[in-house]
Amino acid sequence: MSVSPSPASPSSSPEIVTAPVRAMLVLGTRPEAIKLAPVARAMARSPLFEPVVVTTGQHREMLDQMLDLLQVPVHTRLDVMRERQQLSTLTARLVDGLGEVVRAERPDLVVVQGDTTTALTGALAAFYEHLPIAHVEAGLRTGVLDNPFPEELNRRLIGRMARWHFAPTPRAAAHLTAEGVPEAEVFTTGNTVIDNLLWVLTEGSGSSAFSSGLRRVLLTLHRRENQGATMRGMGRAMRRLADRGDVELVIPLHKSPAVREALLPELADHPAIRVVEPLGYLDFSATLAACDLVLTDSGGIQEEAPTLGKPALVLRTTTERPEAVEAGAARLVGTDPDVILEAATALLDDPVAYGRMASAGNPFGDGTATERIVAQLAEDFGADAGPDRGVVPLVASRHEGPGSYSTA
Ligand code: UD1
Ligand code: UDP
Repeated sequence: MSVSPSPASPSSSPEIVTAPVRAMLVLGTRPEAIKLAPVARAMARSPLFEPVVVTTGQHREMLDQMLDLLQVPVHTRLDVMRERQQLSTLTARLVDGLGEVVRAERPDLVVVQGDTTTALTGALAAFYEHLPIAHVEAGLRTGVLDNPFPEELNRRLIGRMARWHFAPTPRAAAHLTAEGVPEAEVFTTGNTVIDNLLWVLTEGSGSSAFSSGLRRVLLTLHRRENQGATMRGMGRAMRRLADRGDVELVIPLHKSPAVREALLPELADHPAIRVVEPLGYLDFSATLAACDLVLTDSGGIQEEAPTLGKPALVLRTTTERPEAVEAGAARLVGTDPDVILEAATALLDDPVAYGRMASAGNPFGDGTATERIVAQLAEDFGADAGPDRGVVPLVASRHEGPGSYSTA
């Protein structure tokens, strides 16, 4: 569309536009596709927006199996993934590739999600072209610069560049304002992962990967800081858990060679352990819904498990999602194999403790994050966001201290 590019200064306002707003959604990994899918779907439904989806191919198979969720054709595909990619080369290839796309397309804004290398470089490419940036899932912090690595740095850097900070929780919003982001640019919306999960549970029908009537444990691991000896130790702990005899473990294995090298030797040839390829989203959500207990180092699964009332043990030393721990829905158990085994055993054996966690609830939103995000963008681009224009007229609550998800 024809619109002058807006200045990239984080405090600048976007141009007022009258034609559909061209929003470039940049995504490269599985969770970005999942969490931007509802935004793409909402924009595609609205005459106010033209979503321009760019996939970087940071992930290959694991991204491809999520693209149906978008219900929007991919406009541009980069193909940057290399086996055992290093962060420096991945970053360089992405800045270069995305820079070209942004220059060629000149969207009205660029939307990035979360804290991956794709999100960081999508924001950088936009910043270099003076385009305004919307950051979905803004403000998550562990407070430890290299944990998770490199995501904590990525999310802080994106926070310096963005014009719209869509924080999933009041705490995330508070992190941003404490770092000096103007309150008027921070919006507490909930997390779009909940919107997507609720949509999939209504619209789709997946199959659980569990096959027995035993207690069902779902495990996923992938974080860089867990790879190597730490992950091997976790694999051994899972084998000991499976030795109980009354559980079935399902482990959808991340494609990363480093993850496979660490886990496969520890998990092989056990009758109670089912190692499977990464599941499509419908099957994964059905598997999550069918399980009794989740063990994970994933970000997204920490949000989805409480939504479905599944106790989650977080196999990490830090979390940027303490809301679930404080609500009582998740426990941060660390990376020591003995402690992990003890925590899993305690939950499986103690129905009262289990019931408390299972009923703690979900602190990550009510399924309306997308509406809030899209309505806020519509308002700031000067569009008429009335009901007859196809956008639900909700405006995300501007962050004013410990507020919640109320409409403005
Ligand atoms: C990335 C993100 C992490 C996110 C995770 C979601 C960064 C630095 N990390 O980590 O924040 O939590 O995705 O899963 O952005 N591979 C394949 N096929 C695939 C996907 C990956 O073969 O479909 C292999 C590649 O060889 C690649 C390796 O997995 O070298 C790791 O992928 P990479 O994107 O570098 O890091 P992740 O650990 O997946
Ligand atoms: N997921 C999936 N199939 C799987 C494993 C996970 O669809 O086999 C989904 C899961 O529902 C969640 C997301 O992938 O929404 C999490 O991705 P990942 O753990 O790779 O990344 P993170 O959330 O840690 O960034």
